[in-house]
Amino acid sequence: MSKLGTPMSPSDYAQHWRANAESFDNQGCYQWMNDQLTPIFTILEIGCGSGRSTLALARKGNKIISIEANETLACETSSYLRSEGISVEIIRIDSVSLPTFSSKVTIVVGDVFNERMLQIIKPRSINFIACWLIGAYPALISVTLGKTIDELTTQDIPDYRKNVHQRCYELGSILLAEDGIIHFVDRVGLIATAPLAETQSEFARQHRKFSDRFAFNIKESDIAIKHITQASLDASQIQHIGLNDAPPEIACFMISIKAAFIV
Ligand SMILES: C[S@@+](CC[C@H](N)C(=O)[O-])C[C@H]1O[C@@H](n2cnc3c(N)ncnc32)[C@H](O)[C@@H]1O
Repeated sequence: MSKLGTPMSPSDYAQHWRANAESFDNQGCYQWMNDQLTPIFTILEIGCGSGRSTLALARKGNKIISIEANETLACETSSYLRSEGISVEIIRIDSVSLPTFSSKVTIVVGDVFNERMLQIIKPRSINFIACWLIGAYPALISVTLGKTIDELTTQDIPDYRKNVHQRCYELGSILLAEDGIIHFVDRVGLIATAPLAETQSEFARQHRKFSDRFAFNIKESDIAIKHITQASLDASQIQHIGLNDAPPEIACFMISIKAAFIV
């Protein structure tokens, strides 16, 4: 058993994530994310999970390209979207043929760190990158961080997330068109009574390490938070923000941060 808790294969992770996503959906979280978007032409989604986020994005975007490392979840999203009447093309990142992009949603099964992404997606062809609620099964985290599964600790989850965020900024600087946006949504533990302005400036500070390097601008006033119930995290055995040992004044939130590309 890894120190992250339950040993979790990609299909175990898929099952646990589905429970979390349903609970987030029932609390209006995906609607809240969707409300923050204006109509968009082409969206790149990092990690479609079980498809709730992709459905929310499909309601605002003209075309969605979603990269998903977990094949079980990629297939689940494909079936879920089709059942909602949305056309889907699904392709492996290492497939010889490139996607046709003729469907509303194209799911690329692969790792966002795979450089082939840059052959599949043309530079400056994306208007928006959605990086919502990043987390992964232990094997993927361990490969990315260069550790064995047994060496992983709960601290590696936020570290993994930072790696993915950095990758989004890097990809964004190549793939985003003028005025493109990267939208990050994450689960965080916050002091429930902390003034919003303090939270906004702390998260802007954390992101500026990457956003400054890749020429993105973050407006603190654009950073929004939404309270979520601990029960929605307890719906699965995925370790999100480890609130079990946290002081009682810490509560669970989703935080939304937009970074605008400065061309
Ligand atoms: C916690 S789920 C969130 C899914 C979805 N964005 C949502 O909001 O419901 C995170 C998803 O990102 C995928 N993911 C994590 N790291 C990835 C990577 N390096 N490349 C591609 N997908 C990744 C995971 O497999 C998982 O399905």
